Amino acid sequence: MTTLPLTPDYDAWPIEADLESVSVTPRLVTVQWSDGRVSRYHSIWLRENAADDTTVNPATRERILDLSMLPAWPEVEGAEIDAAGALCVDFAMEDRRLRFHPGWLRAHDYDNLHDADAPLVPVTTWQGGPEAGPDTLSAAGLLDTSPNSEAEEAILAPALASVLAKGLVRLRDLPTEPGSLESIARRIGPVRPTNFGQLFDVQAKPDPDSNAYTSIALPPHTDLPTREYHPGLQMLHCLENGVEGGQAVMLDGFAVAEALRERHPEAWATLTRVRWCYANTAKTTDYVWFEPMIRLDARGELLEVRIADFLRGPLQTTFEDVEPAYEALMTLQRLLRDPVFAIRFTYRPGDLVIFDNRRLLHARDAFEGSTGHRWLQGCYMERDEIRSRYRMIQRARRRRWVTAEA
Ligand SMILES: [Fe+2]
Repeated sequence: MTTLPLTPDYDAWPIEADLESVSVTPRLVTVQWSDGRVSRYHSIWLRENAADDTTVNPATRERILDLSMLPAWPEVEGAEIDAAGALCVDFAMEDRRLRFHPGWLRAHDYDNLHDADAPLVPVTTWQGGPEAGPDTLSAAGLLDTSPNSEAEEAILAPALASVLAKGLVRLRDLPTEPGSLESIARRIGPVRPTNFGQLFDVQAKPDPDSNAYTSIALPPHTDLPTREYHPGLQMLHCLENGVEGGQAVMLDGFAVAEALRERHPEAWATLTRVRWCYANTAKTTDYVWFEPMIRLDARGELLEVRIADFLRGPLQTTFEDVEPAYEALMTLQRLLRDPVFAIRFTYRPGDLVIFDNRRLLHARDAFEGSTGHRWLQGCYMERDEIRSRYRMIQRARRRRWVTAEA
């Protein structure tokens, strides 16, 4: 064979190093690479991750193999590196030779793995203060670029990286036509609709169904903590802003949580354990969810903060937990008021702020409605969409690199 085999995905895998030698035992294939690295792969892992049409559906590249249907544990009886540089492995029981792409194998080398499920972009917590502001980028012309073009990528890649790292970015120079947020958001991924609609208008209005739709100040909060899965991202797009006041305030909830962990370990322990009630009390909907205020993922890293005093229902926990829970809550509330955490800025028409709603807290000063109009349009999206879009950009870059090399 002189061409490299398919991979079990649609990605492009540059070849950083060539396969030089291979040895096998029935359950293990050991390869040496041209840079001296040695990688071991279990036979069962290789069998499951083959790219042939008994393992994946060629139309979708989704797996169709059910390992438990094989006659026995898949063992190998030989392996070689072919003329194309692919690893060829002979599976004894099935009498089947399967080929593996060296770039793909190297990229999934779990034997030399350090941190495979690390975030796409390292998370960096930040503090505020009078000089601080969000990462700010011009997105002029974004809607004139072709979807998935390099021009679009040049605007989106640094913006998405800021959201992944710091939970926040401000894009400037976007159109101010009502509804244009939907087209902008679609460049990243699908919007998550809620009972407030696909897009929602943040402006003072009669008969409001949320404090957001008044001119009163809003304390630091995450949106929709009343949902089992509260939205990962929020986008706020400024169409008009002629009012006095109404400054936006944002805080990194992860920085506040880390400060709590360091300075008030008991409060931290309580807020990562006690489940608070989050309830929306609108006239036409009845969302309720119980969750701790601070949650960690399976790696022990911060996953989310869920903070919105005006959406907390009555605490329903064990009798003994009530006072410690309120003590911890007030400790957190005092930290949230510390100006060291907050950045403040004024929205300019054409600004779009994208932020991680499960990490950042946003707040707003009161504004005087009679001085002019303040109109933001907003929408929600999931974190998955930013990650997927960012990975697709990385994939496109790898593909260009592979094509240029060929
Ligand atoms: Fe909000």
